[in-house]
Amino acid sequence: MPERVIRDATAADAAACAAIYAPYATGTTITFETEPPDVAELERRIAKAQERYAFLVLEDDGVVVGYAYAGPFKERAAYRWSCEVSIYLAADRRGRGGGRRLYEALLERLAARGYRMAAAGMTQPNEASGRLHAAMGFEPVGTYRDIGWKFGASHDVTWVQRPLGDPIVSGEDPPEPT
Ligand SMILES: CC(C)(COP(=O)(O)OP(=O)(O)OC[C@H]1O[C@@H](n2cnc3c(N)ncnc32)[C@H](O)[C@@H]1OP(=O)(O)O)[C@@H](O)C(=O)NCCC(=O)NCCS
Repeated sequence: MPERVIRDATAADAAACAAIYAPYATGTTITFETEPPDVAELERRIAKAQERYAFLVLEDDGVVVGYAYAGPFKERAAYRWSCEVSIYLAADRRGRGGGRRLYEALLERLAARGYRMAAAGMTQPNEASGRLHAAMGFEPVGTYRDIGWKFGASHDVTWVQRPLGDPIVSGEDPPEPT
């Protein structure tokens, strides 16, 4: 078994993350981005996610093989305890339990920062992602039909959500995420 480490990403991880992500942008509908972001853009995304949310990497034997991060669900004020999460593993490192470990760490971190709800959108079909989210306690919200167009076809996106941390009690706002 490789020695597995999950840690906060740094700017030095941007190249590895860009390399992991690029084939998903150019060759799949898993992401609706079509132009793979360059290393500088990944560096910017890492820093931005870490300001208010999180950006974690998974290392096997010192090599970055996956990453997971969160960002705002929507910008309006009342959404500020909610976040959107995302995860990508290198194609040859999938199906070995790494996604689950990395997602657990991400969700724990977000709960610790004060977020109360995580949401994720999955282009259909994506059995691995569907299974991962179900295993992590995400519940179905619904499916947007034909909401994206890529590679000459329209695609459905299924959304799921999962509470984080303590349940929200009506009557007063939860503490602000930090
Ligand atoms: C989705 C992804 C992050 C899952 O990570 P992973 O390391 O492959 O998954 P794990 O080995 O941790 O397995 C997590 C669960 O998914 C299931 N699973 C993993 N790969 C699967 C596959 N190809 N088909 C069906 N189920 C699969 C596992 O059995 C496990 O479920 P269980 O706990 O109920 O047994 C990874 O496959 C990936 O990076 N895929 C491409 C990018 C992607 O789809 N990202 C999500 C965008 S919404």
